[in-house]
Amino acid sequence: MNSTPTNAAPLRIATADDLRRHVAQARRAGKIVGLVPTMGALHAGHLSLVDACRKECGLTVVSIFVNPAQFGPGEDFSRYPRTLEADCALLAVHGADLVFVPGVESMYTAAHATYVEMAGPALPLEGAFRPGHFRGVATIVLKLFHLATPDRAYFGRKDYQQSLVVRRMVADLDLPIHVEICPTVREPDGLAMSSRNRFLSGDGRQRALAISKSLTLARQWVGEGVRDAAALAARMHTLLSDANLQIDYVALADPDTLEPVALVDRPTVALIAARVGTTRLIDNELLAP
Ligand code: PAJ
Repeated sequence: MNSTPTNAAPLRIATADDLRRHVAQARRAGKIVGLVPTMGALHAGHLSLVDACRKECGLTVVSIFVNPAQFGPGEDFSRYPRTLEADCALLAVHGADLVFVPGVESMYTAAHATYVEMAGPALPLEGAFRPGHFRGVATIVLKLFHLATPDRAYFGRKDYQQSLVVRRMVADLDLPIHVEICPTVREPDGLAMSSRNRFLSGDGRQRALAISKSLTLARQWVGEGVRDAAALAARMHTLLSDANLQIDYVALADPDTLEPVALVDRPTVALIAARVGTTRLIDNELLAP
């Protein structure tokens, strides 16, 4: 089913018209269209989504767009890493067909006035700490869905709440798109891969490990029979504070609704957001009693 021999450079496209034309052509040829939305600064986590897409789709479209609408006023939009040439080289190796790299002014004209507002899974946790974040995510993802009209779209479990938000939007707005959530790709020592990891200093990189370690330990403690969510969260808090991380939240929540759980007596997701200096990292792990 794969359409492009590995190592052929993907076609780089900047306009909606070009994207629509290439997608229509592929569809006429009977190909399944897959989309991997990203903000670039690609790493093995992103590339695992590209690989999954390529396995299942005849046309693999990767979008690279640092979306201003999902960054808050004091956040890192301007310093977000932008590494387009390196990204395209990696996408060539992984056999992406099209790279869609729109300009900010074409995605958000000066007159832009329409946004996707969501309640439900968009409200707690990231929604509370980053007001407007999921409004920006949902808006850009919906725009990308309309532009690329994919049959399948690929997201990472690393951004667990985002995956719920996208799934909710797709269901609520009756979008004919299959959303695939792929496992979190980690560094050998456990740190979840993130475009923001490159901001970590040697010491910060070491301290950041407390995030994945506390999630692994939470799994272990649940395996050993600890059920009290508050006790688990307190232990995780201690590990993170001991590593000198600033904690935004440690949450034990229902995997579908993100409502807090009191007892881990059924599948639960543990979610962490913490800052290492000025770098904010998130991670999560599913806990099964
Ligand atoms: P970005 O952070 O670039 O991530 C793009 C996709 O890669 C997301 O679906 C994310 O969950 C996934 N991803 C990131 N790190 C991963 C890892 N270590 N393992 C597996 N998947 C990983 O998420 C966004 O961009 C944006 O919000 C976007 C959806 C593109 C909308 O602007």
